[in-house]
Amino acid sequence: MNEAVKIVEVGPRDGLQNEKQPIDVDTKVGLVERLVAAGVTHIEAASFVSPRWVPQMAGSSEVMQRVPRTPGVHYSALAPNLKGLEAAMAAGCEEVAVFGAASESFSQRNINCSIRESLERFRSVVEVAHENKLRVRGYVSCVLGCPYEGPIAPDKVVDVAMMLSDMGCSEISLGDTIGRGNPKSTRLMLEACMKRIPVAQLAGHYHDTYGLAVANIVASLDMGVRTFDSSVSGLGGCPYAVGASGNVATEDVVYLLQSLDCETGIDLKKLIEAGSFICVALGRETSSRVARAMAGN
Ligand code: HMG
Ligand code: MG
Repeated sequence: MNEAVKIVEVGPRDGLQNEKQPIDVDTKVGLVERLVAAGVTHIEAASFVSPRWVPQMAGSSEVMQRVPRTPGVHYSALAPNLKGLEAAMAAGCEEVAVFGAASESFSQRNINCSIRESLERFRSVVEVAHENKLRVRGYVSCVLGCPYEGPIAPDKVVDVAMMLSDMGCSEISLGDTIGRGNPKSTRLMLEACMKRIPVAQLAGHYHDTYGLAVANIVASLDMGVRTFDSSVSGLGGCPYAVGASGNVATEDVVYLLQSLDCETGIDLKKLIEAGSFICVALGRETSSRVARAMAGN
């Protein structure tokens, strides 16, 4: 392929938000430092949501203030409303992400409002963010299935993705929140989105619950997607999507992309070290098959 592919590392946010055990700020910053050392250039490092809803993200301001400001490294953080945006700006974020859903039930459970209300909120977030020269990324969750409603029609994904794009989100990340997608459903969903939104603006955010995330990435690459979200060691899950496992492991994505001659700028060995740092801190095995294979297990 010989093409550049952008990896958005979401481990410090999506990867850690669902952890029940306390993780201190030193550990979170230590993870980000190691990711940067491995050559990762786009990192979702924090989340300015209600600490009552997601206690693990409570130290986000301090994390953002302490991450290394290395030239060429871009950080973003979730901001569901103006309060979150204000906190993100105060902590020095240059990019925030609003997060909506293609499923009404998931929207209610995750952000306590309807899809319509969420989009109104996001419009104000985007306006104020742009006034302050921040970029805004837009997520659509449940693009390949909802934990409460089951299958989701591609048209519903397109509607929300279009609204986010029209209000000024620079990138639309399509979230298979519960990892129910397969290459066929991924293709159908992308085909629908690509009729209305340039593929260069789309990102794949695939959780790996059923082990098909890498296959879904291959299907997406074939359709021209060149941005993927992933989580080192395959950490993570959404607290409001019970049973969903982590994102596809960044190590596995980098290994796949190397095999296809795609350039990511990431050093796989150092990335595995970053993964092993956070796994030791959490006292668990990696979920990356590549990391396990390269360790000889
Ligand atoms: P709410 O309870 O409806 O908010 O929550 P509210 O506006 O009624 O305010 C209630 C209280 O929350 C007030 O405090 C506010 O100040 C406070 P009180 O006066 O009672 O002391 N509050 C906040 N505090 C800190 N930061 C804020 C904030 N906003 C209000 N930004 C809200 C609405 C959106 C805040 C809540 O539902 C929430 O925080 N939800 C976040 C859920 C979440 O983070 N989920 C995981 C991320 S999404 C995900 O993982 C999916 C993704 O990875 C893609 C995929 O895989 O599909 C992105
Ligand atoms: Mg996610």
